[in-house]
Parts: sequence; structure tokens; C-alpha cells
Amino acid sequence: MTYTAIDVPRQNFEAAVRAFYADGGRGLNCTVPLKELAFELADQSSQRARRCGAVNTLVFRADGSLYGDNTDGVGLLRDLTDNLAVQIHNKTMLILGAGGAARGILEALLREKPVQIVIANRTVEKALRLAELFSDLGDVKGCGYDGLQSQSFDIVINATAASLSGELPPLPETLLNAKACCYDLAYASQPTPFVQWGRDHGASISTDGIGMLVEQAAEAFYLWRGIRPETRSLIQGGVLKQG
Ligand code: ATR
Repeated sequence: MTYTAIDVPRQNFEAAVRAFYADGGRGLNCTVPLKELAFELADQSSQRARRCGAVNTLVFRADGSLYGDNTDGVGLLRDLTDNLAVQIHNKTMLILGAGGAARGILEALLREKPVQIVIANRTVEKALRLAELFSDLGDVKGCGYDGLQSQSFDIVINATAASLSGELPPLPETLLNAKACCYDLAYASQPTPFVQWGRDHGASISTDGIGMLVEQAAEAFYLWRGIRPETRSLIQGGVLKQG
């Protein structure tokens, strides 16, 4: 069994997927910016993938059809609740960013019944639209960063692409409640600017998304092989961080 990275330009995506299947591939993961294309390509998708409009896991079925799923939300949820022992139920949550990454995690988080989820984004309309899209699952509100001045939260998740360019969204000093958790969906060998911000502002947990990476992969493996790999030692051992 092998699992390797293939760099595929958008215009070759479908051909690359078909060729991989013809070569005996069992299934594949795809990441930014191919997740929406993968959703369109799938013959059938899970309910959670349809809600995101994005697929990170494709499964080749015996009849040659393609099944699409999205394991990002459940991956984050497992890392937060199982690995980090963060309770979401009855907590106030803030999600920074309103792009594909935010959309991929909202359903899983809302199903845990937090008091409220606020989505803050540079482009306010995108936050409002995303909140509306998930409003049937709970109390979700959208706003701009200015709207955060008088609010504080138990859990803050950075789903912006800011960390990838070493940037940080403009966050008020008073954003965190006592014993807050800061979680960056991005991961890096050094603390991201957001993880560092959380540590500097008294968060009891401030971590990057390496655990989510492992957990979404474990869930994908389960879809392909029917076995859910043990993940804890991999995350705690820091195997991935050391390359
Ligand atoms: P992804 O699939 O990774 O979510 P995306 O859909 O392009 O990528 O969304 C990127 C998100 O990061 C957006 O919410 C973007 O804000 P805008 O919608 O206003 O563009 C946010 N983002 C990117 N760089 C940022 C920065 N430096 N500060 C704050 N937000 C940033």
C-alpha cells in the first residue's frame, strides 16, 4: 500500500483521477484548490460533503463510480474533543474567515450545540452569507473584525489563509474568555502567528491544526479500508512535525 502526493493542475484534475483509478488506486485525498472540483466530479457525495460543496476524499467504488466525502469537519472535531478534551457544547465560538476552510468545519461544530458561533471575516458579506447557509443548524452570526470589539469567546478557530502568509487577522485584546482555546487550522513547524497570539493572550490551549490533519486522514483511511487507524501516538510523538 502506498500513499503519495501528486501535483495536479486544475485543468488536468479529472484526467489524473481517472488515470489513478486505471492504475489500481483505491481512493484519494485532494486539497486546496481542488476540493470544489472533486465535489463536482463525484457521482455521489455524502450529506456532509454536499453541505460544504467540497470533497477532500474520493473513493473508487467497485462499479467504477466515484464517491465523495469531506472528513475535515469530523477531523477537527475529533482533535478538539478527543485529543484536546475541549468541550464545545454550551461554549461560545468564533470562527475567523469565511472561505472553504470555514465552510468545511461549520456543520460538525454546530452539531455539538455550542451556545453560538460567530463568523468574522475581512469581507463581511461572505461571513453573513456563510452564517445564513448554516442557520438551520444553530445560532450562527456573521460580522466583520470591527464587530468583535465588545465580544469574547471560549473557543476561537482561525480558518483564514492569513497564517500561510505569516499574517494575523486584526483581533481585539479582550477576545478570549478565561481558559479559552485557540485553534489554527493551518500547521507549521513553528507556532503560527495566531497560535503565538493565543499564547500571548492567556489561552489555556493554543495549537495548530496538525491533529486535525491526522484525524481527517484517519477518517479517509476508514472510508477506503474499513479500519480507523490509531492516531494519538502519531500526534503526541510529533512524528509529523519532525518531518
Ligand atoms: P480556504 O479554502 O483556505 O478557506 P479561501 O476560500 O480563499 O481559502 O478563503 C480564505 C479566507 O482567509 C477568507 O476568509 C479570507 O478573507 P476574505 O474573504 O475577506 O478574502 C481570509 N484571509 C486571507 N488572508 C487574510 C488576512 N491576511 N487577514 C484576514 N483574513 C484573511
